[in-house]
Amino acid sequence: MNTSLHDFIRGLPKAELHLHIEGSLEPELMFALAQRNRVALPYASVEEVRAAYDFSDLQSFLDLYYAGAAVLQTEQDFYELSAAYIARARADNVRHVELFFDPQTHTGRGVEIAIVFAGIARALREARLEHGFSGSMIMCFLRHLSQEDALATLQAALPLREQYADLWIGVGLDSGEVGNPPEKFAQVYAQARECGLHLVAHAGEEGPPAYIHGALDALQVERIDHGVRAEEDPALMRRLQQSQMPLTVCPLSNLKLCVVEDLREHNLARMLRAGLCVTVNSDDPAYFGGYMNANFIATADALHLSREELVQLAKNSFTASFANAEQKQQWLREVDEYQAQFAAN
Ligand code: ADE
Ligand code: ZN
Repeated sequence: MNTSLHDFIRGLPKAELHLHIEGSLEPELMFALAQRNRVALPYASVEEVRAAYDFSDLQSFLDLYYAGAAVLQTEQDFYELSAAYIARARADNVRHVELFFDPQTHTGRGVEIAIVFAGIARALREARLEHGFSGSMIMCFLRHLSQEDALATLQAALPLREQYADLWIGVGLDSGEVGNPPEKFAQVYAQARECGLHLVAHAGEEGPPAYIHGALDALQVERIDHGVRAEEDPALMRRLQQSQMPLTVCPLSNLKLCVVEDLREHNLARMLRAGLCVTVNSDDPAYFGGYMNANFIATADALHLSREELVQLAKNSFTASFANAEQKQQWLREVDEYQAQFAAN
């Protein structure tokens, strides 16, 4: 354990680019919302919920994640969920988040898409006004459902575009990866691109490197979420390095979902040292044992990251964001100033 490095991490300005807001639902809030909305949960206590978080793969997690999300019903629920995440992020010195949300998880239960947008947006706007916290929203399609379902979701969301022009910046692709390749969603991504939305997709978490190629070629994404299996394909590694295509890596998620057996085997440091634009993120922090700083600290300890490498990761998170160039420069200066100030003390 390195106390000084941990302190350095805690104060380091950073951005989070891979966070499912539904995955930030802590068991305490899950219980409170279940009671308020009279939703039955298959658990007797918060402790029992936490004890159930013992996953063998992505699907074993998704089963619990979708069941837990059933407590989210009203605009106020989505607001409280998002406000709780933002408070945790701010405590970790996260300056900017581009959060994912899964409308189909909610519309499938009869919750209107406008309610989902409104609750998340209220929390993000309030945090911007009160704390200067910067945030935006990326609407994800569930890849275990059909492309028709994704197209209908995009159509349902587009009338909200103007109302959330300050927040809704892009689309993503999540849920069970294997058997649901990116090519399945080429048409809905083409439509989203025509609308001027940014494009990202989960690829190479459990799926093979071919899915990363597919996300780049068939979907034309601007960032890859996870991407850790790229290492199996040297030509793909060169492509990612040369294009500086960002990868939003989630170390504690990979550990909890058995993508890696031990954090000491994680390839984040190897990819960083090979010059890829990798970032650190929390994915579903309520389920995977920690928010941003927990991810940074566990990874730094397991992979012996240097202070310079941590600075590079923080800078990558801002560079890889969809914020404007001026804003990015301001954050990058903040990181430099922080590093200089920490060194002087
Ligand atoms: N939805 C929430 N977390 C996810 C993950 N890690 N992979 C795919 N879909 C998800
Ligand atoms: Zn994810």
